Amino acid sequence: MTHFNIHHIGYLVKKIDKAMEAFQHLGYSAVSDIIYDGGRKVHICFMEKDGYRIELVSPGDSSSVVSGLLKKYKNSPYHICYETADFETDFASLSAEGFTAIDTPTPAPALGGRRVVFLMNPFLGMIELLETP
Ligand code: NI
Repeated sequence: MTHFNIHHIGYLVKKIDKAMEAFQHLGYSAVSDIIYDGGRKVHICFMEKDGYRIELVSPGDSSSVVSGLLKKYKNSPYHICYETADFETDFASLSAEGFTAIDTPTPAPALGGRRVVFLMNPFLGMIELLETP
């Protein structure tokens, strides 16, 4: 079976600076700058509290990959990211077990260029798979 570690919970937010302030009131600290991912047209910032890491994601403009999701779900958590040292094997294994890739493995600028891929499962929604550096 797989050896995933949970890397972060992805959180859709309309305004990333306002969201950071609100999370700071709850005791979260920013652990990255706000980084712009030009491929996905999203602003991203990582924050942590009590060993939990969240990824704030806000759209750069209306053509962003998350604009539609934000309209539908508002400000809310929307994926859990799993990290694996065996990216190719786990990607193939998940694909064979009902997780359907909704994009192709792509380097993530906000994660040092490590590859990520998003997959959908009909019973638990969206996950992200991230390769260990
Ligand atoms: Ni993520």
